[in-house]
Amino acid sequence: MSLTDHVSADRLALAGLASSSRQDGPLANAVAAFRAMTPGPHWHSDWAWAHYEALAVHLAQSFELPRLLELGGGRDPAFLDSGREAGLSVTINDIDAGELAHLPAGTQTARFDLVGDLRGRPDLHEAYDIAVSRMVFEHLPDVPRAWRNVHRLLKPGGVGIAFFPTLYAWPFVVNKLLPDDVARGIVERLFPNRSRDGGDPVFPAHYSECFGSEKRLRRMLDPIGFREVQVLPFWGHHYLKRFPGVYQAEALMNRAFAALDCRLFTTYALVIVRK
Ligand SMILES: C[S@@+](CC[C@H](N)C(=O)[O-])C[C@H]1O[C@@H](n2cnc3c(N)ncnc32)[C@H](O)[C@@H]1O
Repeated sequence: MSLTDHVSADRLALAGLASSSRQDGPLANAVAAFRAMTPGPHWHSDWAWAHYEALAVHLAQSFELPRLLELGGGRDPAFLDSGREAGLSVTINDIDAGELAHLPAGTQTARFDLVGDLRGRPDLHEAYDIAVSRMVFEHLPDVPRAWRNVHRLLKPGGVGIAFFPTLYAWPFVVNKLLPDDVARGIVERLFPNRSRDGGDPVFPAHYSECFGSEKRLRRMLDPIGFREVQVLPFWGHHYLKRFPGVYQAEALMNRAFAALDCRLFTTYALVIVRK
């Protein structure tokens, strides 16, 4: 999408004239078929963690999308094995060369800033069929721009997926409110492998447009021009596992949020778009 495209998309959105993406259609059918093949509860975050990878591979195969780009894959990308086993060509993106340096020799990489200006990178324009990300969008200062870049990276018919934590789940509200250093210190103390030298470092989080509200997400995504959008909301987490009683009470509360489809308090969301 060129600068003029961005401007006209924003104008259309302001004027309320942006075309709406479809909520039903081939993408919705493929997602529903995958959910039907997997055990539930489909509202629980555990389902999203367990099936995010297989869902992406299922969509790549359903829509015949051979070139997979993992956005913000870092040192521990999800698709190196599963993507290759499915016959996909897998490329790992990250902004940080230090993260990419941890990857096995020979891994295809594409280093760029997902919220950067990609107009100077014609090699990336419509270069991929499926762009997937896990726990990356909450670290981006400008998520609408990231989605515009996803649109730019994908060939027509391509699929973009983002799996991210959402506001206003309390652990992420707390993380957003605390200064980065304090939040990092707490996580490092609770989970030693997340220290700077550990295998799973903590990155500062912004939570820009990280919500489970379909209405809100569509307001951002529709002007970009995706033909289909699917939003899967999830509730529940295990941060309080060490606190019996409170843990069970919170699990009950999340079950109730899910039953009421309360999007204000989702814990995670999976957003899937088709260009
Ligand atoms: C929490 S880690 C997640 C890594 C991996 N996706 C996973 O699930 O284990 C976030 C990753 O996003 C990368 N990242 C942050 N901002 C980025 C940007 N603007 N463009 C590309 N990658 C970015 C970080 O360097 C880091 O590797």
